[in-house]
Amino acid sequence: MVMDVMAAAARIEAAGGHVIHMEVGQPSAPAPRAAIAAARAALDVGRIDYTSALGIPSLRARIARHYRETYGCAVDPERVVVTTGSSGAFILAFLAMFDAGDRVAVTIPGYPPYRHILTALGCEPVPIETTSETRHALTGEMLLAAHRKAPLKGVLVGSPANPTGTMMSRDALTSLIAAAESEGIRFISDEIYHGLDYAFPAVTAAELSPDALVINSFSKYFCMTGWRAGWMVVPEPLVRPIERLQQNLSISVPTLSQIAAEAAFDGRAEMDAVKHGYEENRRILTDGLPRAGLADFLPADGAFYLYADVSKFTNDSFDFTRRMLEEAQVAATPGIDFDPVHGRSFVRFSYARSSAEMQEAVARIARWLG
Ligand SMILES: Cc1ncc(COP(=O)(O)O)c(C=O)c1O
Repeated sequence: MVMDVMAAAARIEAAGGHVIHMEVGQPSAPAPRAAIAAARAALDVGRIDYTSALGIPSLRARIARHYRETYGCAVDPERVVVTTGSSGAFILAFLAMFDAGDRVAVTIPGYPPYRHILTALGCEPVPIETTSETRHALTGEMLLAAHRKAPLKGVLVGSPANPTGTMMSRDALTSLIAAAESEGIRFISDEIYHGLDYAFPAVTAAELSPDALVINSFSKYFCMTGWRAGWMVVPEPLVRPIERLQQNLSISVPTLSQIAAEAAFDGRAEMDAVKHGYEENRRILTDGLPRAGLADFLPADGAFYLYADVSKFTNDSFDFTRRMLEEAQVAATPGIDFDPVHGRSFVRFSYARSSAEMQEAVARIARWLG
């Protein structure tokens, strides 16, 4: 559906219209200057070789250091695996942890590729619906109830989450991991939006259990979507199987991107400034949208998403986003992409662009709904 919205927005722009893009889930800022400079220097040297399957050792060590500096948590660099974005990490993680036919719990609303990749690998995604009663967090009770109906082999959660923008507290994450591990259910934590936390500091599952598999990426906080670089912190017994998988599937992650990714850690001040821009955008939307008529949305704790309930206006969020695009020239994503059941009542707004655009979006929506 989001692709249809993007195509319609492109048609409006080709005809001279000016669309505010709130449908796209990627930063508009460039990669850290240090990352770009490191890639340029590597190109000047000329040869770009394969790396070892688990990644360049100095990058793996730098990622381990990031856990110490950011979360005060010791991670053995040997457990760090460099991946082709977090998308590449899902494939490796699922192949290493699950067999065809295994049932893996995912939350609804949620990022659709979780379900699609599991299905493509012959696993069965088990959607568990989250509600406002738990601030859209999956709880241990919900997980165990699903497990009692038919046994689960794994569970995957994200915090901050896409599309909801909600986050799990330390207590919520701790008790969910404990519940999963009490039944031998493998725990996967998608931490791609870490660093973009506003309500309270995000907690890494790496700190809570050596058996949790943590997935992260340079795409969001570091604004490096197209570089396709990410990483995992994996349970020690999975290092060798994942090394063999990566070696066979892709040999290694693109070398230039790994070199840039290592240098990206030197660009944190620059990226924190980008984050502060998102924080300002979040303030503009959480203040302005209620005045514009959209008062009902989930807690915008982190990432750069606001998930608004539009059931007051429609029971067809696709039609709502189509009309908002045509009549107000604001593009957003219909919730149906993330939740086949209740998504008809929700729209996801991405606030990764400039504050001036967010002000303009609020003004346009107010005029349109008013
Ligand atoms: C929740 C979530 N996980 C993973 C990804 C994949 O990102 P990448 O493969 O660029 O790391 C995205 C991209 O939007 C996402 O929203």
